[in-house]
Amino acid sequence: MNQIFFGSLPYILITLAVAGTIYRFTMSKYTWSSQSSQFLENKTLFFGSFPWHYGIITVLFFHILGFFIPGAILGWNAAPTRLYILELSGLAFGFLALFGLLALIYRRLTNARVKALTTGWDVLVLIVLLIQVVTGLGNAIFYRWGSNWYAASAVPWMWSVITLSPNVDFVANLPLNTKIHIFNALLFFGLIPFSRLAHFVVWNPYTYLWRPYQVVRWYRRAPRTENIVQYK
Ligand code: HEM
Repeated sequence: MNQIFFGSLPYILITLAVAGTIYRFTMSKYTWSSQSSQFLENKTLFFGSFPWHYGIITVLFFHILGFFIPGAILGWNAAPTRLYILELSGLAFGFLALFGLLALIYRRLTNARVKALTTGWDVLVLIVLLIQVVTGLGNAIFYRWGSNWYAASAVPWMWSVITLSPNVDFVANLPLNTKIHIFNALLFFGLIPFSRLAHFVVWNPYTYLWRPYQVVRWYRRAPRTENIVQYK
């Protein structure tokens, strides 16, 4: 089972992600945005989108840092105070992301106009993201100290997959919650080319986070005036 989920399926999902993304980029470049619905509803979007993006981008930044320099993370964690700082910051940004994601889900479920524009892919993406964040927080809360065993066993597994010599022993004994977290991340990558997640791999949408407000208005034709009788 471990061999299938962590030794074989990663290649299928990564190939799907890379090939699908290249295909989508070359065939339909203009569908990269995350189809703004800001003009339909703005208040909850603001309360959801900002905490979600700031939270998840920071969490992912630390995941990526650990991926490239696991030794430095272990070195940093050697002093307990520094370990607590790292773990508590990860937890805080994880909760920020969860809060934002729940607000975005609430908005999709309750606003009739946004709901009308929501596709099956959007729902699937939200479910996958919710599982990812909840199991991530589960790792951080129940299986201490995540940043240490991330660097010592999850990262070597990822490198073994990338270097085409998958070694599932690194992850075989991790708790089920963590296995779901890892496999769900692969599903997330596989979903990128098919969903609004495509905006995730291009830089432009990140400017939403610091650019000033933009109000998108419906474009309406000017009222017809030729039949209006004018009285003097
Ligand atoms: C789509 C990709 C991913 C997302 C969105 C994501 C999200 C999260 C979130 C929100 C947290 C909780 C916040 C925190 O404590 O840092 C977390 C924690 C964690 N994630 Fe992920 N994750 C992803 C991929 C992965 C992968 C591929 C692995 C391992 C191979 C992984 C391993 C961990 C571990 C070990 C923790 C606990 C960290 C700690 O306690 O300090 N994550 N993740």
